[in-house]
Amino acid sequence: MRILVTGGAGFIGSHYVRTLLSGDDPEHVSVRVTVLDKLTYCGNPANLAPVADDPRLTFVRGDICDAGLVDALMPGHDTVLHFAAESHVDRSIGSDVPFVRTNVLGTRVLLDAVLRHRVRRFVQVSTDEVYGSIAKGSWTEQTRLDPSSPYAASKAASDLLALSYHRTHGLDVVVTRSSNNYGPYQFPEKLIPLFVTRLLEGGRVPLYGDGANVRDWLHVDDNCRAIDVVARHGRPGEVYHVGGGTELANRDLTARLLAACGAGWESVDHVTDRKGHDLRYSLDCTKIAEEFGFRPAIPFEEGLAETAAWYERNRDWWRPLLGRAAPPAVPR
Ligand SMILES: NC(=O)c1ccc[n+]([C@@H]2O[C@H](COP(=O)([O-])OP(=O)(O)OC[C@H]3O[C@@H](n4cnc5c(N)ncnc54)[C@H](O)[C@@H]3O)[C@@H](O)[C@H]2O)c1
Repeated sequence: MRILVTGGAGFIGSHYVRTLLSGDDPEHVSVRVTVLDKLTYCGNPANLAPVADDPRLTFVRGDICDAGLVDALMPGHDTVLHFAAESHVDRSIGSDVPFVRTNVLGTRVLLDAVLRHRVRRFVQVSTDEVYGSIAKGSWTEQTRLDPSSPYAASKAASDLLALSYHRTHGLDVVVTRSSNNYGPYQFPEKLIPLFVTRLLEGGRVPLYGDGANVRDWLHVDDNCRAIDVVARHGRPGEVYHVGGGTELANRDLTARLLAACGAGWESVDHVTDRKGHDLRYSLDCTKIAEEFGFRPAIPFEEGLAETAAWYERNRDWWRPLLGRAAPPAVPR
């Protein structure tokens, strides 16, 4: 089995690769993994350090938009797991050009090569943000896409493009859409690692608006297990939701992070709200539970405590990255 993992030096992709290669799943003993990653500001070879010497891993630094490179790499692979993306909403509000380029055009380059080289399966890793915002209830996989940010719009476009290759060309495509991931090795511009790293350094943290925005939190390990299940058993042309079952308003999450880091509300700056800030995301995850018995296994309190402890132990990993993080939000 040969797997091509795009974006395998990022947060979720690297977790998937580390788990695949260091786990004891007998099905993975003979697996071979090619990581294709451009190493943008958030791609980090250190994320793959624990498996860097594994002979089953080949790392290729390159761009998914480079059709020649993708065409040369693709033959011989059985499955493509597509994690590579521009992934930070705030950056997409500043400039959406890299988002359309990588998330839409890059996905097209991959799909075209997958089709031409008769790769068995394409797994599109996506997000709940494609649905926009929901005040009450939860989205099912049939809900109409209604993205708010340029990031979400570019992911919606890439999901639809991937699914169109299934309908038009019969390509075996499956899509996962998950809620907000957290865990070790997440680039310190996303909420949890941003807050934890700043608080650990005795700094201040920016809370958008009144902190009422609600997100569902999913441990990266649970998401990677779900992606693996869908990659192996998902039905072609289907979308699967993956949620953590922990909905929290940002102000409640902030309270937990302050407690975990031994800080108080005096460390919080209330900053101007994000443009077009979605109020709430919520996924109905009945389908993946009923078809595969999948449920998240890591309780949020436990996962958050372990994550905060990981950042405390691994300052050498995140300190060099701070200069590359998105510019700070504006205090109100
Ligand atoms: N982080 C979340 O909470 C979350 C939630 C749902 C879905 N997702 C999706 O999961 C995927 C992975 O997210 P993440 O949080 O690990 O992102 P990340 O930003 O940490 O990693 C993205 C990786 O893609 C690479 N990359 C970017 N542009 C590239 C290009 N043109 N060619 C090759 N490589 C390129 C980067 O170098 C990086 O290693 C994304 O598709 C994202 O939309 C993320």
